[in-house]
Amino acid sequence: MRIVSVVGARPNFMKLAPVDRALAKRADVEHVIVHTGQHYDPGMSDAFFEELCIPAPDYHLGVGSASHATQTAAVMQRLEPVLTRLQPDVVLVYGDVNSTLAAALVAAKLGLGVGHVEAGLRSGDWSMPEEINRVVTDRLSELLFIPSRDAAAHLAAEGVAADRVHFVGNVMIDSLCWAFPRALERNVAARHGLEEAGYVVVTLHRPSNVDDPATLRTLLDALHRLSRERPVVFPMHPRARKQLPSDGFAVARDGDLRLIEPVGYVEMLSLVAGAALVITDSGGLQEETTYLGVPCLTVRPNTERPITCINGTNRLVPPRADAILAAAERAITRRPPVRPVLERWDGRTAERIARVVCEGELYGLDDLVTATPPPPRIARAIPEPVNVV
Ligand code: UD1
Repeated sequence: MRIVSVVGARPNFMKLAPVDRALAKRADVEHVIVHTGQHYDPGMSDAFFEELCIPAPDYHLGVGSASHATQTAAVMQRLEPVLTRLQPDVVLVYGDVNSTLAAALVAAKLGLGVGHVEAGLRSGDWSMPEEINRVVTDRLSELLFIPSRDAAAHLAAEGVAADRVHFVGNVMIDSLCWAFPRALERNVAARHGLEEAGYVVVTLHRPSNVDDPATLRTLLDALHRLSRERPVVFPMHPRARKQLPSDGFAVARDGDLRLIEPVGYVEMLSLVAGAALVITDSGGLQEETTYLGVPCLTVRPNTERPITCINGTNRLVPPRADAILAAAERAITRRPPVRPVLERWDGRTAERIARVVCEGELYGLDDLVTATPPPPRIARAIPEPVNVV
């Protein structure tokens, strides 16, 4: 079998890594990796391939940054000849970035089977480019790999046949389980002079939060005020960095707000695992904090990952300083004593994906073979993956 994975942006790489490892165990599978080049800074791309032990891409399309139409079109134009030559049995696409949509369109129009890893998530917010990418990619996919039950309901409502939907679990958690021992060894907090559970980690990069100077200023002001209580560490995405004026908006400087360069996956995991609180607008961090039992505030009006609010540690907050400060205080002081356990977020999702793709196995909603065990106590060592296959 020949399987092609197409990835392009930072959050794709954590999803690719476990799938690549699962496919590499199969002697009869050739796994070809295509990197579109949507993200190209070493800290946004190469570092992730190295840390997650992903082999160098077989093809690099070098599309770079551009408007949505130009970027999507560039991926399509450059990917078409590659897929035409390779004629894979399946093309796997990941998440909801522009590269995901572009690859799904090219593959479907060439008559190739598309498998979407992280299918069925919906925010209902059409102002987010990712929502458009999700809906269209799912429509074009033959195999839909969902991380949670709510995704199945969305797909059913959109008329997707149930036999194309596979409840495999959350592949991000596979990467987390794999990297966690390394993250603990690194003990990044101590290297930065930060106390265990005594600091806040921030990531903000969505256009709605960083492209409007007034909103970005409000958010930075809130972070400065928060940093009077405990250090706030903010690894800045290049998009946010570019919006920051040289005076950093000249907001108050009496706290301990640290604006640093983007950090690698293991470094970030180490920081997040030891944090009192995470403030973010990223999808992946909503999931990772829920798995780790770390309180999380998501600065967005909605989320395509409601399970992290309903069953996890995530809360939505508006981009207002008073709301963020009040929610932060509440989240830190009322930290839940136990770590949430979510169905099939167990480190084995990629194995299930490989079984579906290579053996035609089915993973329905009602075939959990083992009851979910009670949640373990929060500990610094990661709990064993839940034994549900
Ligand atoms: C993209 C995804 C978003 C994901 C995010 C993670 C889409 C529509 N959005 O957003 O869902 O959460 O990646 O990072 O696909 N830039 C650099 N160097 C890089 C990459 C980007 O400087 O390596 C800067 C450029 O100015 C670029 C801007 O960031 O124009 C935005 O990059 P782009 O890939 O278009 O979108 P992201 O905001 O990164």
